[in-house]
Amino acid sequence: MKTDTQGNGAKLVSFQLTERSDIMAIITIPTQPFAGQRPGTSGLRKKVTVFQQPRYLENFVQALCDVLNGPDANGHPGRLLHGQTLVLGGDGRFHNRAAVQTILKLAAANGVARVLLGQGGILSTPAASAVIRRHQTFGGIILSASHNPGGPYGDFGIKYNAGNGGPANETLTEAVYARTQVLTQLCISDAADIDIDTLGMQQLEQMQVQVIDPVADYAAVMRSLFDFDLLRGMFKKGFTLRVDAMNAVGGPYARAILEAELGAPAGTVVNAVPLQDFGDLHPDPNPVNAEDLIAHMAASDAPDFGAAMDGDADRNMVVGRHFVVSPSDSLAVMTAHARLIPGYRSGLLGVARSMPTSAAVDRVAKALNLSCFETPTGWKFFGNLLDAGRVTLCGEESYGTGSSHVREKDGLWAILFWLSLQGATGKSVETLVREHWQTYGRNYYTRHDYEGIAVDVANTLMADLRVALPALPGRVFGQRTVSLADDFAYVDPVDGSVSKNQGIRLLFDDGARVIFRLSGTGTEGATLRLYLERYVADPARQNEPVQLALADLAAIAEQVAGIRVRTGMAGPSVAT
Ligand code: G1P
Ligand code: ZN
Repeated sequence: MKTDTQGNGAKLVSFQLTERSDIMAIITIPTQPFAGQRPGTSGLRKKVTVFQQPRYLENFVQALCDVLNGPDANGHPGRLLHGQTLVLGGDGRFHNRAAVQTILKLAAANGVARVLLGQGGILSTPAASAVIRRHQTFGGIILSASHNPGGPYGDFGIKYNAGNGGPANETLTEAVYARTQVLTQLCISDAADIDIDTLGMQQLEQMQVQVIDPVADYAAVMRSLFDFDLLRGMFKKGFTLRVDAMNAVGGPYARAILEAELGAPAGTVVNAVPLQDFGDLHPDPNPVNAEDLIAHMAASDAPDFGAAMDGDADRNMVVGRHFVVSPSDSLAVMTAHARLIPGYRSGLLGVARSMPTSAAVDRVAKALNLSCFETPTGWKFFGNLLDAGRVTLCGEESYGTGSSHVREKDGLWAILFWLSLQGATGKSVETLVREHWQTYGRNYYTRHDYEGIAVDVANTLMADLRVALPALPGRVFGQRTVSLADDFAYVDPVDGSVSKNQGIRLLFDDGARVIFRLSGTGTEGATLRLYLERYVADPARQNEPVQLALADLAAIAEQVAGIRVRTGMAGPSVAT
């Protein structure tokens, strides 16, 4: 309901309402399939301009609604979504607000009874997961292209999360894709746009839209896990923190929790206002894209602790004074010290990491007698393990860590976790990591990204590697011998589902690994990811620069795959 700005509000509002309910109708309009609406590693991601095509978003959402409604006993369209509640919100990037209006009109026409909508169309990905879980909704729709660039010429994305709060499984995303390819009509309300900025309830057809505070539920979950008094005490004593929200959705969450609630000084969170184009920052928290934070943490007056989040606030980068923590090490350190945090005081059920993530956490799991799972890349693969109570912490090398508190990785949660570790131990980030290496050994780790490769070049490279695999075991490279070479396949231990072709692995006799994978989140050309890892137990040899320590493995990768010759690139476009 629009409020009136000219003084005669009541009349105008009632007039509009009467008029609207007279003309508001659910209509059916023809559509045609769009090629390529198959969700990737994390939902459907395309250029904004692709999403702006008439009926592109509508087609995908209608397909989603059809799949969620399911068939009835006679194979006709079912009504499973009827009477249900969905959560809706996104990272605030360009097209977020327009997409929200479209999705609401489709939801209203497809039987949804209620939508919990983040105010202004805003919900970080972990917050959306928290809202789904706390309100036990049927599921939720998250609008985000995560760490991909935003703005009118940037990327947009949409994904569906199920009632457990986690990304839909592949069976569902494949069904949605199949449906997008045969759709002939859309069912949509022709109502006017609603006000998405004012908290409270509105009606759209038979559907209620409840505009909610995007932070409240999430903050409640954080309070239940961490000792907020301890954290308040740290800031009172002068602990200094810099959180770079990269002009993305994490800003309001970090401000509300760190500054308003925990008493960190105003200005602790920088780039804190979500902008539609992220102010031209690339909100992917790694040392390359978050170079400003790295520079602050390298300065003589560096704060005690630094961190950054990505576009939808599910990723995190943790930085100490003059010291960057690799995400794989972060997961291992968190696992080792989890019992210091109230939410994990009784211990962990188990841990999981994606296959390319370093095996640092495996060593901790072994020492603590915890089960440790190795899954394909993508948070969705952790869902079953979390739901089945087999793991508590999960992590990926791509700056993602999370726990059973939601079903997404969670940037601010990771920041609060590391803050708590420093509060509970009185040790700095650097000390925590160095002590960890002394105890468990160091897994040197890097990821080299070759971006913007022609798709056929990337596919041929991978295909040729697959052909070469059988001849690799036993082959000697310098001091190392290949002990296993395969294309990673995963059998989900909970539901037995099999995911093949998840990345080519070369394992060596000294524990080193070289992994090749193609990205599943890009929107232009192909990105080859090369993951390199080497284990060093001897504390005297744990201080080499990472790229130097892994240079021989990079050379082996080059020898095996011929990346430079094939791509014409002299080196990776990003090495983190
Ligand atoms: C990337 C990361 C992966 C992460 C995903 C979504 O996927 O590598 O770990 O789960 O983004 O944030 P990729 O582009 O490699 O398919
Ligand atoms: Zn993200």
